[in-house]
Amino acid sequence: MEHYFTNNKDLKSEMRTINFEKNGIVFTFFSDLGVFSKDHIDYGSRLLVDSILHNCDSCENILDVGCGYGFIGIVLSKIFSCQCLMVDVNERALHLCNKNITKNKVLGKSLFSNCYENVSDKFDLIVSNPPIRAGKKVVLSILKDASNFLNLDGSLWFVMRKDQGAKSILKELSLQYNCEVIDKSKGFYVIKAKNR
Ligand SMILES: C[S@@+](CC[C@H](N)C(=O)[O-])C[C@H]1O[C@@H](n2cnc3c(N)ncnc32)[C@H](O)[C@@H]1O
Repeated sequence: MEHYFTNNKDLKSEMRTINFEKNGIVFTFFSDLGVFSKDHIDYGSRLLVDSILHNCDSCENILDVGCGYGFIGIVLSKIFSCQCLMVDVNERALHLCNKNITKNKVLGKSLFSNCYENVSDKFDLIVSNPPIRAGKKVVLSILKDASNFLNLDGSLWFVMRKDQGAKSILKELSLQYNCEVIDKSKGFYVIKAKNR
């Protein structure tokens, strides 16, 4: 079975655009076959962005892990006027993300990286709508290894469905981080984690 994160050079292209408005800014996202949530902005991703904007006033730099076509990182980077590094393993998603960085005029950079493999900096905010379909090992690596890439007062924010194991992940992460459930909506949890 092909997953949205599989690199398949033979995959047809049917480019489309998605418009999204936040804080009076209209964003345009190029999307295509073979990427996550290709026809609309994912509800969980929107919830994560809303929660962060509601709870954080500013930040200097963001890392979006599993960025897809760049929705989370691009909206936050535009509204906070800050740098954002966006990483993924799906080459088509990264190509779209690059186009979307240019289209929405943000200070962003997209980079191929399996989890944090090609990341070296530290960040105020690490954000993720993690790839559940990639399996628990990848999801845990994204969430647990974030601690090595956070600035002193930095935080990891992620969104996960309750029925995709949010509660057990929360329990496991609580051994390592101070975790807080910031929002709950339609079965999605938004969780903030800070290094102890
Ligand atoms: C649930 S999607 C979220 C996409 C995007 N952030 C959004 O909100 O629309 C998860 C993303 O993680 C990416 N991914 C899967 N395995 C990965 C890995 N090992 N390292 C980095 N990204 C990965 C997928 O390609 C996919 O784009």
